[in-house]
Amino acid sequence: MSETAPTAEPTAEPAAAQEQHPLRAVVLAGGLTFEREVSLSSGTQVVEELTRAGLDAELRDADAELLPGLAAAPADAVFIALHGATGEDGALRAVLDLAGVPYVGSPAAACRLAWDKPAAKSVVRTAGLTTPDWVALPHSTFRELGAGAVLDLMVARLGLPLMVKPASGGSALGVQKISRVEDLPAAMVSCFAYGDTVMVERYVEGVEVALAVVDLGEGPVALPAVEIEPESGVFDYSSRYSPGLTEYHAPARIPDDVAARAADVAVRVHEVLGLADLSRTDAIITPAGEVHFLEVNVSPGLTETSMFPMAVEAAGYDLGTVLGRLLARRAESRR
Ligand SMILES: Nc1ncnc2c1ncn2[C@@H]1O[C@H](COP(=O)(O)OP(=O)(O)O)[C@@H](O)[C@H]1O
Ligand SMILES: [Mg+2]
Repeated sequence: MSETAPTAEPTAEPAAAQEQHPLRAVVLAGGLTFEREVSLSSGTQVVEELTRAGLDAELRDADAELLPGLAAAPADAVFIALHGATGEDGALRAVLDLAGVPYVGSPAAACRLAWDKPAAKSVVRTAGLTTPDWVALPHSTFRELGAGAVLDLMVARLGLPLMVKPASGGSALGVQKISRVEDLPAAMVSCFAYGDTVMVERYVEGVEVALAVVDLGEGPVALPAVEIEPESGVFDYSSRYSPGLTEYHAPARIPDDVAARAADVAVRVHEVLGLADLSRTDAIITPAGEVHFLEVNVSPGLTETSMFPMAVEAAGYDLGTVLGRLLARRAESRR
């Protein structure tokens, strides 16, 4: 059975309740990662949407002012629009748990797992889902065993082309497609600039889709798949954030049975990794209709060119209402 978005608009809090006491939401954005600018853009958009939906929403950075600020003026709930480490790897959530501050999204431990791409792939594969073959190795292995010998084994086992990417990260930073064996060493070196562990993965040819999942109280539900068609052929940083360089199709131009299978995959990923409230799975659909899991994002981009808002719109929902509803549920669960 596929789980697809219900057609009815999710109900917002009763208007009267909102008028008496608008929900106070703190939206966290910025941070000290490579994705700071993207996060600020997501956060600004979230504050606008929430304000339009009748909430009292404020943008804050995750800096030394945050905890004293939340203690002095408690929020009903926090929305994390931080991308990259701290916001997505579970660290900030663990601190919010210590402080007793409710937040929208997945718990700290689940984020830590999802953030580690090879670990998440192992769990997803064990659950019976398809993900491209991979190997993940720290820098020290290449130093100790000799880079050349290890690289040769990788190519022999995984073939070409290959995807080389940091084991954790986002916005396609450090991600490279390698078609010639002689380009592999340089790709590995630039990948190590983003972290200690590199993941090399079999390249999968097909249609790229972003699969958004939301849980508004009745279990996780997949929104329509968003198809990604970058002009350059690679969905890299500039294809993502420069308007016009990528064409998006929401819903994706795929047969209904494939769309239903993709929706099932996204919901299963959300469940087996223990995610909550919202997620976005990135996947490739092969010409045979197989859905290959690439990674899942616990803090999906929410900028004007991001796929999660496109999926929400394609489902016939209003982004501010959906996010407001998630915040209201978290605020409620604390009372
Ligand atoms: N195995 C793969 N086969 C084909 N394309 C891939 C593969 N892995 C990644 N890509 C491409 O690289 C992009 C970034 O990879 P991804 O793992 O999603 O990293 P990020 O966390 O930076 O989004 C994807 O959106 C896709 O276009
Ligand atoms: Mg991705």
